[in-house]
Amino acid sequence: MYQTLLTDLQNGIYTITINRPDKMNALNKDVIEDLSNAIDEVYKNPEIKTAIITGAGEKAFVAGADISEFTGLSKDAGTELAYMGQKNVFDKIQNAPKPIIAAVNGFALGGGCELAMSCHFRVASENAKFGQPEVNLGLIPGYGGTQRLTQLVGKGKGMELMMTADMVGADEAKALGLVNHVFVQAELLQKAKEILQKIQNKAPLAIAKIISCVNDAAISDKDGFANEIKRFGDCFATEDMSEGTNAFLEKRKAIFKGK
Ligand code: COA
Repeated sequence: MYQTLLTDLQNGIYTITINRPDKMNALNKDVIEDLSNAIDEVYKNPEIKTAIITGAGEKAFVAGADISEFTGLSKDAGTELAYMGQKNVFDKIQNAPKPIIAAVNGFALGGGCELAMSCHFRVASENAKFGQPEVNLGLIPGYGGTQRLTQLVGKGKGMELMMTADMVGADEAKALGLVNHVFVQAELLQKAKEILQKIQNKAPLAIAKIISCVNDAAISDKDGFANEIKRFGDCFATEDMSEGTNAFLEKRKAIFKGK
């Protein structure tokens, strides 16, 4: 049914597995479109009570947006990429009336970390690694990372993680409040399903209201998400962004000039 996802519905739990393991499950246009449709299915299908998002293979949850799709994009196209992604996937996950959790089974970098953070909460395997390495590419997070990472770990740690591009392992991510539980990889999905089964025994309308109210707690008077979309797009008009993305694709170190 989907080109880039595997889906499975059992006992009310819809498991969505991003399936591009040879590319570290990077989010290209097809994945974004498939995810948008799969999340619509979560909203619409009464058989689905809760959902899990995870990645195929043992190495990566999602290693970011697909960098190969960034080359040659204009400033407007960059802005559009962030805007459409946020609207069709990340915001839709956050505002879903049914619990959607991330089972982070490896690298969750850039758009992967942002995808996990848009879920209602996160569990991880011991080998999981989280980070927002966009500055290595002359970029900033564009799928909500500047806002959601700050909300989850606080301003100081959020600043440091986004400025240094450092990765944190599962235990540190748990200490920071980025993930709720760390499990051995072989048990990750089963443990995630046990948590969702417990939630499925509670009142669904009350759960939907909790999601809505908790989401409201994060809204400030300034629209940081809109600011992020604009500034993400602005990066596409810089030489540093071409240098950063080309350096990644050419497997060399980027040399930034501040232009
Ligand atoms: N976009 C596009 N392709 C990606 C990718 C991404 N975000 N992340 C990984 N890949 C591809 C690699 O180019 C490589 O493709 P190839 O086999 O055709 O050369 C393949 O996935 C395997 O990745 P590789 O880098 O060889 O694996 P690794 O184990 O050495 O390193 C990572 C794993 C995750 C540390 C590394 O791939 C990485 O740093 N990825 C980019 C992370 C990032 O900057 N994300 C933010 C994007 S905004």
